Amino acid sequence: MQASLPDLPPTDVLIIGAGLAGLTAALSLPTTLRVVLLSKGPLSECASAWAQGGIAAVLDADDSLDAHVQDTLNAGAGHCRPEAVRTILAQAPDAMDWLCAHGVPFTRHADGRLHLTREGGHGQRRIAHAADRTGSAVHSALLQACRQRPQLTPVENATALELLTAADGRCTGALVQHAGRLLRWPAQHTVMASGGLGQLYSHTTNPEGSSGDGVAMAWRAGCVVEDLEFLQFHPTALHINGRSVGLVTEALRGEGALLRLPNGQRFMPAYDERAELAPRDIVARAIATEMARHGLGHVLLDITHRPRAWLEEHFPGVSALCAAHGLDLATQAIPVAPCMHYACGGVRAEVDGSTGVMGLSAIGEVACTGLHGANRLASNSLLECVVMGRAAGACLADAVPSKSLMPAPSAPSALSEPLPAQDHGATLAALRQLMQNQVGLVRQGHNLEQALAQIGSWRAALPDHSPCALPLRNRLDTAWLITNAALRRGTSLGAHARSDAPLNAQSLFAR
Ligand code: FAD
Ligand code: SIN
Repeated sequence: MQASLPDLPPTDVLIIGAGLAGLTAALSLPTTLRVVLLSKGPLSECASAWAQGGIAAVLDADDSLDAHVQDTLNAGAGHCRPEAVRTILAQAPDAMDWLCAHGVPFTRHADGRLHLTREGGHGQRRIAHAADRTGSAVHSALLQACRQRPQLTPVENATALELLTAADGRCTGALVQHAGRLLRWPAQHTVMASGGLGQLYSHTTNPEGSSGDGVAMAWRAGCVVEDLEFLQFHPTALHINGRSVGLVTEALRGEGALLRLPNGQRFMPAYDERAELAPRDIVARAIATEMARHGLGHVLLDITHRPRAWLEEHFPGVSALCAAHGLDLATQAIPVAPCMHYACGGVRAEVDGSTGVMGLSAIGEVACTGLHGANRLASNSLLECVVMGRAAGACLADAVPSKSLMPAPSAPSALSEPLPAQDHGATLAALRQLMQNQVGLVRQGHNLEQALAQIGSWRAALPDHSPCALPLRNRLDTAWLITNAALRRGTSLGAHARSDAPLNAQSLFAR
């Protein structure tokens, strides 16, 4: 089937994903290279554009790189790669300068200094932000810069399904579905920047496109994947009628919001001396424990001590989200519950995105540099996207020869026969429910075994060589890799909590 597919004109660099990692890499490549940037949905639909809290960076004279490193290592539960932590965090001030130079409108004090907020696990204020709409401010500034580059072609609604490889194992581009057709997109170098995998769960903060495709594709192309059991559940998604309807940023707790039971009682001080500002895994499990103990569908987050005008200035996005659901942040404690948010693991990569597979880099959330260890420190992810994107761009500037005489890449048109539509809806819904129930915030060995067997049987039922099955295969492969990793790690660590690991049961809350 693949042999008869049409080839597009080869491009120099094919970037799969137009979030912060992909855009940063695109802007960091030499302008002489032809770059194609794929987005699964509309360009504005990615986790990066939805980010709220901000970007962690040492920008205050009272702060230090050592302190940021230590907070990251503590949150990561001793599982981080210390050299990657230091390398990435040391570049945070430069990354912020680069973003400011691209015109990102960060929130500032009257004297022009960046306003810094605080989030869980950080010993001090070190989160630069654009009110609570940081992601949208960053993403739209970089997208505008990309649009000014004639050699850079963004392609919306284009889904990479499979990486192409040569006989020597080198990656040579990707098989892409666009406008209902299948095409082969050859490239000198491919950058996987496909983001996270929250859509494998029925409750997630992640956008539609975050379904873990990149992990599966890179794994099948020969990359090592690691730390996939460490999935971060955000403690506070707004919870309405049993559904998560959007994120409520941790910066709200950084600015004094308290978690309460329906009777008004606080519970976090009983779990951790840092209370509401403990690392995210600890807060999420504490909330889940209280919900189970009291038979609750949610707990309450209370910031009513702040005046309305202050809330609307600092948290316009959360205020609007609450208002859309008939809630008033200024006068009411709001219903929140934990929700699948972030993959700490992924495709093993160096800080410059190198994966070990020639011709293929991985950057951003899909990658695993070891920065996050077993549990990511809040607001270190956007930072990692910028640092990796810039490093990958610099590395490829040397590695990819400019073939400026080749024809410019065109948007795909009149390609293969239309791909027959396949309805995988029922299996996808069942998969999301299975992952939520059996591979969720707290896991047990027998549930993981059952889930692995079920995912295995869905995989076995897929036709072997049909491209129509690839969208489902990618999700099933990634779900299988997560579940297998969770089963194999028989003890609790960071965001991976096993209630059936007696030696470590006590440590679910202690760190
Ligand atoms: P994304 O921004 O998710 O972009 C992925 C891109 O890949 C998209 O363009 C998507 O369409 C594309 N794609 C996916 N699959 C395919 C495919 N098969 N073919 C083609 N294209 C594909 N982190 C912080 O540090 N600070 C925060 O304040 C913060 N807030 C957050 C709030 C929310 C609601 C969420 C969901 C996450 C938040 N995070 C935050 C995490 C952070 O936003 C993400 O980890 C980060 O943005 C990931 O960037 P990325 O470029 O790797 O992926
Ligand atoms: C948030 O704003 O709470 C999300 C921050 C993050 O995921 O780092």
